[in-house]
Amino acid sequence: MKKNISLKSYNSFGVDVISREFHEVSSEEEVIKTLKSLKNKKVFILGGGTNILFTDNVQIPVINVKIKGMKIISENNNYVSISIGAGEIWDDFVKWAISKNFGGAENLISIPGFVGGAPIQNIGAYGVEIKDIFVSCSGYFLDTIEKKKFELNDCQFSYRSSIFKKSLRNKFIITEVVLQLSKTNHKISKSYKSINDALNKKKIHNPTIKDIARIVSKIRENKLPNPSLIGNSGSFFKNPIVSIELLNKLKQKFSKLVYFKESVSKYKLSAAWLIENCNFKNIEEKNVGVYKDQALVIINLGNATGKDILLFSEKIKSTVLEKFDILLEEEVNII
Ligand code: EPU
Repeated sequence: MKKNISLKSYNSFGVDVISREFHEVSSEEEVIKTLKSLKNKKVFILGGGTNILFTDNVQIPVINVKIKGMKIISENNNYVSISIGAGEIWDDFVKWAISKNFGGAENLISIPGFVGGAPIQNIGAYGVEIKDIFVSCSGYFLDTIEKKKFELNDCQFSYRSSIFKKSLRNKFIITEVVLQLSKTNHKISKSYKSINDALNKKKIHNPTIKDIARIVSKIRENKLPNPSLIGNSGSFFKNPIVSIELLNKLKQKFSKLVYFKESVSKYKLSAAWLIENCNFKNIEEKNVGVYKDQALVIINLGNATGKDILLFSEKIKSTVLEKFDILLEEEVNII
């Protein structure tokens, strides 16, 4: 255990806060031992720190999950199931899968963070979400230290959410994730507009997993800031889901509104468009701004504090509310 360490290098916003008590766990045995030693105290579970905004020093014990390991646990002619330690870097797993020609994770290439955090917010990008390849995840309840395995249907996955973000928020530590990928007849997801455009431009009609991975990497590189160079946490807000009635009302007032069909009667608005159209691409305050190529991404331009970033995000929320009557909901966890 370490005392009073800076969490600056443990969060992708690069915010400098202190953890009073910092525990690293590299195995399930260490998880059990650490939880026992903390005697049911409230704790904060930290993975890759890529979806978190720390607004103050962390007084409660932090448990940083470093459990590694990636192994095939079952396979047949068509599919392979892989068990992955929660502390593995998500993108290392995706690149490994691509190198083996295992399909299903390629649209999720270059997403920062650890494997254990991926099911919590049901990470998604370019038409695929982790729920599409998910088999189960296991871990421990923080209070009883009881082990439990959650299968796909137990996880209540929805857009950027799961049971681990709702009723089990701060109550469960994920130690292992099992995903299933295809070995043959890969289901290539290419309907997302920017993927489709890139394929047409390159005249690729039957893309392979590697083609998709290359295209998605490039799109992300062009649109999203690299957190090791510019502090950020990806999308700060979720894209709001609205009824057709509200959509029609907004369209009358804002003819260029960007939206996508979500289900029969629901539409997803582009939060980036709403923010950009409140002129936030031209505003900077106390070393905080939005990214020039993606207004949904709030960036730390220097030594911004978590509170500076929070204040800026609140300004975005109130301006969007005033102009569009839409209340944005944070995607990032604010601590
Ligand atoms: N747009 C703007 N201004 C901008 C950026 C985008 O108006 O500055 C408009 C454009 O019309 C664009 C549309 O918004 O076509 C959609 O933009 P983009 O494809 O970048 O996707 P997004 O909806 O803004 C979501 C995810 C991203 C994910 C991309 C690709 C959420 C909250 N965000 O962003 O996820 O990479 O789709 O699938 O759903 C993350 O969760 O951290 C994240 C980066």
